[in-house]
Amino acid sequence: MINKCLFPAAGYGTRFLPATKAIPKEMLPVNTKPLIQYGVEEALNAKCNTMAIVTGRGKRAIEDHFDISYELEHQLKSAKKEHLLNDIRDIINACSFTYIRQNEMKGLGHAILTGQKLVGNEPFGVILADDLCINTRKGVLAQMVELYDKYKCSIIAIQEVEKENLSKYGVIDASEIDSGIFRVKDMVEKPDIESAPSNLAVIGRYILTPDIFEILETTSPDKKGEIQITDALKVQAKKGNVIAYKFEGIRYDCGSIEGFVKANTDLFNNSGK
Ligand code: G1P
Repeated sequence: MINKCLFPAAGYGTRFLPATKAIPKEMLPVNTKPLIQYGVEEALNAKCNTMAIVTGRGKRAIEDHFDISYELEHQLKSAKKEHLLNDIRDIINACSFTYIRQNEMKGLGHAILTGQKLVGNEPFGVILADDLCINTRKGVLAQMVELYDKYKCSIIAIQEVEKENLSKYGVIDASEIDSGIFRVKDMVEKPDIESAPSNLAVIGRYILTPDIFEILETTSPDKKGEIQITDALKVQAKKGNVIAYKFEGIRYDCGSIEGFVKANTDLFNNSGK
């Protein structure tokens, strides 16, 4: 069982400035819902009921979002508009939220290591909220939990990416063992186009086994001083303990303005609002 899902959410969101000056980028809305709420819903869909959120300075709005607002509830009640908070109230009732602050920005691997105190010694999911994944059937994390139950090792979500965009991602070297399922041999973080081992890029969904923490503790920072999760996963991959999965669903790169606008437009058009 995967009970906990970690959300690295300490980044500055500089691409969205000035919008993210006083608002965490995870709180930017796609239509009426903040990005991180989509992630939490995906985790709940995978039956994870503890959300472990790695935050930083200026991220209080995330905690407030996943909490009761008595004044607002009272106002809405008198205006007979309580239904507007039904979805978020259901989420608050269905799961618990734990938080820890990452006080230095030292990369995704460091953010995940910071979350160790919340996760403990068990396998856990990781959702990067700015990779928004939409499904009609089962959420991506739920699809990955099924694979974890079968393979009992770390699982990463991948998608095919055009050559010119590979240098934005972790890229895998792997062999296909079943349709859309790969055993990873090696990985490289943000390779040059020429040295990318494949066109299969990692997107922001992971199930990690807890030995990842020990590996992260000894993972050296890269040239920019960041500890990369890709480097730690590489150690597991060398032992045959990483499965990559071409997930079902549509992924929007909401870390870029273009992807964010596209997500808003597509979801708006599909909801008919
Ligand atoms: C991170 C990971 C990268 C992965 C990407 C998915 O990069 O380091 O391996 O492909 O997320 O969105 P970031 O986008 O934080 O630079």
